[in-house]
Amino acid sequence: MRSKCLYLPARQRRFTRIYNLGMPSASSSKHTPEAQIHALREEIVHHEHLYYALDAPELTDAQYDALMNRLKALEADHPELVTADSPTQRVGGKPADGFAKTPHSRPMLSLDNAYNEAELRAWDTRLRESLPSTETVRYVCELKLDGLSLALHYIAGANGSARLERGVTRGDGTIGEDVTSNVRTIRSVPLSISAAKLKAAGMPQEFEVRGEVVLPQAAFLKMNEERVAAGQAPAANPRNAAAGTIRTIEPNIVAQRRLDLYGYFLLEGGDFLMPSQSGGLEALRIAGFRVNKHAKTVADIDAVLDFIAAAEPLRDTLGYEIDGVVIKADSRAQQRRLGFTGKAPRWAIAYKFAARAAITKLLGVAFQTGRTGKITPVAELDPVFIGGTTVSRATLHNADEIARLGVRIGDFVQVERGGDVIPKIIEVVEDSTHPRGTREIAFPTACLRCKTELVREEGEVDLRCVNASCPARLEEELRHFASRGVMNIEGLGESLVAQLLGHAAAEVRIDPDGVATEDAPIEEPTRKALVHSIADIYSLRKEDLLSLERIGEKTADSLLAEIERSKSAPLARVLLGLGIRHVGERTAQALSDAFGSLDDLIAASVERLTEVNDVGPKVAATVHDFLQNERNRALIERLRAAGLRFTAEKRVTTDTLAGLTFVLTGTLPTLTRETAKERIEAAGGKVSGAVSKKTSYVVAGEEAGSKLEKAESLKVPVIDEAGLVALLEDGDSA
Ligand code: IVH
Repeated sequence: MRSKCLYLPARQRRFTRIYNLGMPSASSSKHTPEAQIHALREEIVHHEHLYYALDAPELTDAQYDALMNRLKALEADHPELVTADSPTQRVGGKPADGFAKTPHSRPMLSLDNAYNEAELRAWDTRLRESLPSTETVRYVCELKLDGLSLALHYIAGANGSARLERGVTRGDGTIGEDVTSNVRTIRSVPLSISAAKLKAAGMPQEFEVRGEVVLPQAAFLKMNEERVAAGQAPAANPRNAAAGTIRTIEPNIVAQRRLDLYGYFLLEGGDFLMPSQSGGLEALRIAGFRVNKHAKTVADIDAVLDFIAAAEPLRDTLGYEIDGVVIKADSRAQQRRLGFTGKAPRWAIAYKFAARAAITKLLGVAFQTGRTGKITPVAELDPVFIGGTTVSRATLHNADEIARLGVRIGDFVQVERGGDVIPKIIEVVEDSTHPRGTREIAFPTACLRCKTELVREEGEVDLRCVNASCPARLEEELRHFASRGVMNIEGLGESLVAQLLGHAAAEVRIDPDGVATEDAPIEEPTRKALVHSIADIYSLRKEDLLSLERIGEKTADSLLAEIERSKSAPLARVLLGLGIRHVGERTAQALSDAFGSLDDLIAASVERLTEVNDVGPKVAATVHDFLQNERNRALIERLRAAGLRFTAEKRVTTDTLAGLTFVLTGTLPTLTRETAKERIEAAGGKVSGAVSKKTSYVVAGEEAGSKLEKAESLKVPVIDEAGLVALLEDGDSA
């Protein structure tokens, strides 16, 4: 059904623009570039605080990005107005000579650990016995965040403010590394704090904050996906990933990783600034730092134990890793009297949660052939419940890892799982109740799917199937091509891909005893494959889809529409979709930006490719080889013929739509939601999720729902795709 669209005549569009931008001269002083920049910065800092410190965003990401883009554009026009604490200046140049060593104002110590209630109670007793019996002791309980600690130094900035001067890693506790360029990219770290906020928090202009840097699980998973897509080994856990990231020499990369910082100490000149730990946390919160909201001040050790009991189940819901609870005596006066032992304060202790691990039996090993042909051994485990989920598989990475573990089929193994991290086999367990298994894990010598002999390239641990037409590889390629963030073909998931290939499953299961042998049964396709190459999905017909199980009219129609829409994906995503080794999202974008068209990219020499940001000689050679390969070229030509976009979207940003807010609803005839959004934002407009009186236009497509009704009731103009395109094109003629 076509929605009731109101296509605004050109004159009216122009009027809207004039109304929005051509304000009367009385207020023109407010519209000097300086004033606009100032106002935008304040607005952005306010929203960053809501988002990163308080977890209470009021803007969508797109709205935030649009503000940022406007500020960037204004600053680009007025470079003399750029200051170091502008939110646009989080990502700066890389440190020229690596990270300088810097001494800490006072040592960054570690904590003693308690592993059970008895140890914790013993600590509490010792602590209270060291203080006069008339004194009561209050404790602050905080989550023990599993990241790395960092010291932030602030010094006096303009107009009574404080500004971030330096960020230093813990190092050996006495001397750390200056990682300021990277710390600046962490959005929950304020670059400056206004005089008013400092006053409200009772803080001076110069102070030090200590806290924990963590990599949220979602960011960790994304990072690992990208690493795997680029042919790199995934990081073992979010802590390692965070530690590696903070020492990355390229601030650009750090900015994309989305680290987070939670403050837990406030110091001045090497001493605590507030008379209590709880007061320190409160001041940090008021000043705009992110402080973990689960911190709680309690009256005694029983209440501490209650806190711990409540905290442990939170582990699966937080979105970041914790490995225990830190308990601190609240009063600084008491802390001072309690002092330190060797490396740790007497006034604090870490209660460590038991690792989320279990012992189970290794039943067998499956060998998966990945998109790049890499063979990954996957442990098949006797299902076991660990920290909220049943684990039945764990990665064994490669032959080296199997050798390191010395694991055999039938062994009992210790399996560990942290947060969303893929379960990992830690070690083989052997005792009277856990006898050793007997069967060696033999790697296949040929791909179990296509029988091509596997090869191990020089200097690599991984075995690979080098048959570019291996059906297992095709299956992974297709899944990757269709996936979110690549060509976004909704509905073309794992099971449909398998069906299109005439298979039931994506991997080959080794014989029932779990012994991998060359002549293991190969799963024969259960029916004829409909797809033999990525390009074939663009020639799928409705009747092809209807011939598959569980695919009805509606599913077939929407899938075909999705496939059609994917043709307008920008070049960067097409490049990503091709699945070139080492080419992740960022590299694909860099290549698209640098060359602008696939043809120019194909024509590029290795040397020319190496000139692109982020592209080293290894990646350049891989890209070049891929694009010169005859088979790949044939694929590319078929995709071209199918109508895919081989030119980059012009990413020049304009302010054609500056000041206008759009709400998209329903299905537009040719533009995908994402493309429409990208284009509006590139033109300086905002895209919002909800219709309000502030909405400038609702862009409505087929099956627009309640948003259209709301627009009509609020008298917000409704336009269709053609109306939007017209605005995008001649908005600036007004
Ligand atoms: S206080 C005297 N509070 O745990 C050092 N540390 O095992 C006291 N950590 O190095 C540090 N969350 O990296 C403190 N809420 C928290 C923490 C925390 C995580 C880390 C920190 C420290 C390690 C000590």
